[in-house]
Amino acid sequence: MPDDFVSARQAEPDVSKSLLPQSCQLIIFGATGDLSWRKLLPAVYNLNIDGVLPSHFAVVGFGLPAEGQVAGDADDYIRQRAKDGIRRFSRQPLDEDHWADFARALFLVPGSFNDARAYALLKAKIDAVDQQFGIPGSHVFYLAVPPTLIGTCVEHLKTAGLISDPNEPRAFTRVIVEKPIGRDLNSAVDIMQVVGACFAESQTYRIDHYLGKETVQNLLVLRFANSIFEPLWNQKYIDHIQITVAEEEGLAQYDAATGEMLATRAGYYEGIGALRDMVQNHMLQVLCLVAMEPPWSLKPDVVRDAKAGVLNCLRRMTDAEVEKNVLRAQYIEGDINGKRVPGYRKEVRESFEVMKRPLPSESVHSTTETFVAMKLFIDNWRWAGVPFYLRTGKRLPKRASEVAIQFKDVPQILFNDHPDVPLEPTVLSLRVQPEEGLAMRIASKLPGPKVRIYPVKMEFNYSSSFGGTTPEAYERLILDVMAGDATLFMRRDAVEAAWRFVMPILDHWERVRVRDLPEYQCGTWGPVEADRIIAPDGRQWRTL
Ligand code: BG6
Repeated sequence: MPDDFVSARQAEPDVSKSLLPQSCQLIIFGATGDLSWRKLLPAVYNLNIDGVLPSHFAVVGFGLPAEGQVAGDADDYIRQRAKDGIRRFSRQPLDEDHWADFARALFLVPGSFNDARAYALLKAKIDAVDQQFGIPGSHVFYLAVPPTLIGTCVEHLKTAGLISDPNEPRAFTRVIVEKPIGRDLNSAVDIMQVVGACFAESQTYRIDHYLGKETVQNLLVLRFANSIFEPLWNQKYIDHIQITVAEEEGLAQYDAATGEMLATRAGYYEGIGALRDMVQNHMLQVLCLVAMEPPWSLKPDVVRDAKAGVLNCLRRMTDAEVEKNVLRAQYIEGDINGKRVPGYRKEVRESFEVMKRPLPSESVHSTTETFVAMKLFIDNWRWAGVPFYLRTGKRLPKRASEVAIQFKDVPQILFNDHPDVPLEPTVLSLRVQPEEGLAMRIASKLPGPKVRIYPVKMEFNYSSSFGGTTPEAYERLILDVMAGDATLFMRRDAVEAAWRFVMPILDHWERVRVRDLPEYQCGTWGPVEADRIIAPDGRQWRTL
């Protein structure tokens, strides 16, 4: 790690950590679900290893164990599940000493989210844990539940007397609401109203974990802590921008050795699809950081105002524009890394069998999209006429996400005077994950007597520059909520504005109701049809 980096960090301690409370209880709704298993419990475990949690801290899970896995002792059940999740997904390996420390402060109240009696049990457990760990009532409720249950949960929390006054100085109650908030604009507004009736805005944290990713945060630093980029960051110099979020994973998780389905997200994903799951939130939030005007301070609402400015300028599409500029598709059986993986419809069928739930009739021949590509425009002075191409999909060849800024071509003179062999354009690519970092592709002279131009890359790599592993987004965001810092969370108006942009697309799809979507084989970069979004503009999708 370079010396100047160390000294800068020492001189400026991390603000969010310094504001952390002495004590806090984290109550996870949906603790037995997929998100907790893969992300939340491993994130808290890593915070424990790093020694950054409040000194008085405990986690209480709330939710029902999967059918057939009836908890003998509920605490044992969640500890086993957490341990399994940590083994598989934790950034830092499982270490028995840290595990013991983490496990002794982890509990489960088994119960259903719409059962008032379960909330009475939950309250009793929260009080007992407060007593045991010396926590004077500061609570963060993490609602890792489907959007349809958020209203039910907050209303029960209120009735059970689990929400403190926002002005109470000695202890706080905060709520984290997972995305997607709603399945359309109206349901999002309804959810936010119910939450707003129970929690003050200052207590509400609408999470989008992409905003907690180091590389996503680095977008602001790159743009506003370096003098060279901002003058070029506009329609005068930028040809177009591509944002790609590619995932290797599909709907379900399988055991590598036995091929047995370990977990499935079908209950949530089926009928939701990639536009609601990825574009409405993660991708538009990243887009905001790429495209926003410079905020005049880092105060939460100043940053959030600047982001809202982008969402409010997104051009809403007509039906004809949806047809032309948006493409959805679904994966079919194919190979990833030499392994055969099933198509989406088969995975849905098997998932419902595993969940022991009847397959909904509309899922028999599912038209849920697992891939979306689109072209959009931001109608403001800075971005007038610059296309933004967005692409996301599951079961693509690899996990790879990036933002690529392609600058305009140099004039067709001097080194670029051959009409048939134009120079490669300058591209700044920000790798969100994995191999976090950035690269700038520039033209350079090949050594030798002739003038031959070759594209080369200037690279920055997080791991080689700073060492260690990059913290997971959820680690940072959970700490921020405990510290009361809302900068990286979505404000209500931003959630609504994002839905306003995607609604014409969803409405159009609802009206045309196709029987089959374009298909792509697992392990490919999406359907061939995706080219029609970009190729007519004389551009092409980037190869990652
Ligand atoms: C979640 C989506 O919000 O983000 C998932 O619901 C997706 O479908 C996940 O797989 C991707 O997150 P990450 O951090 O793995 O890129």
